[in-house]
Amino acid sequence: MTLGLTGLALGGLVYAAGYEVRSFRLRRFEVPVLPSGTRPIRVLHVSDLHLTPKQRGKIEWVRGLAALQPDIVVDTGDNLAHSDAVPAVLDAFEPLLSTPGVFVFGSNDYYKPQPKNPAAYLLPTRGKARVHQPNLPWADLQEGFSTAGWLDLTNTRGTVDLGDLRLDFVGVDDPHLGRDRYDRVAGPASPEADLTVGVTHAPYLRVLDAMAGDGCQLLLAGHTHGGQLCVPGYGALVTNCDLEPARVKGVSRHPAEGGPGAAWMHVSAGLGTSPYTPVRFACPPEATLLTLVAAP
Ligand SMILES: [Fe+2]
Repeated sequence: MTLGLTGLALGGLVYAAGYEVRSFRLRRFEVPVLPSGTRPIRVLHVSDLHLTPKQRGKIEWVRGLAALQPDIVVDTGDNLAHSDAVPAVLDAFEPLLSTPGVFVFGSNDYYKPQPKNPAAYLLPTRGKARVHQPNLPWADLQEGFSTAGWLDLTNTRGTVDLGDLRLDFVGVDDPHLGRDRYDRVAGPASPEADLTVGVTHAPYLRVLDAMAGDGCQLLLAGHTHGGQLCVPGYGALVTNCDLEPARVKGVSRHPAEGGPGAAWMHVSAGLGTSPYTPVRFACPPEATLLTLVAAP
């Protein structure tokens, strides 16, 4: 009996580390969030690459996303997993850098990954765990994205014009590290915008509440890895933040019960893992093409 269970666990680990962690998927959702009469907008949401320079398969897969011809790219952070990974990240995004884009950073853009037990992902998070000086070259990545014309939304508001449509963005630095300063970007959504989007790496409720309260109609986040180690037929056990597991990935509403004034939300399960916990189970790595359409 014990041998059988051990064999099952080992088999699961081999599958999770050897196959699923590299089984990249594109998910597609239609979100009815635009004013009536507005043409559709295609948003490519990419998150949590956790890239090392040798991950050629992931780099090529991300490069291939340019074939989707999105109207705009949203990167919700955790791009880096290695001190030398900035050129690899810019290589992965290179075919997309001529497309309008916005980005925020996550804890793993600032801090090198640390060795830990794979099961540690399932333990409660304390947040604000790393208080030292950032030790990854996040500023080089910021410069690379910004030079290409992507908008840095770190505790910042901004506007992207897509032809006849005006998209306003409200962004924060990573709430998982307590770096979010929503007070710097707070304020009601402009009636001049066709859409106001809130962008954060980690979907902590305080940030989602503030963004939805200010009239953001769409919220985009990453960080959760979709639960990373999930139970088939049940789903995620944890979100690595204070969002409940039912909204760990995919499209949902915020507040969760929906109703008038509720925002639409998309949480990306992301494309990577820490190099020290290279396992995914029942939660394949993903990027998402969101087609925003007019509300009925
Ligand atoms: Fe991540």
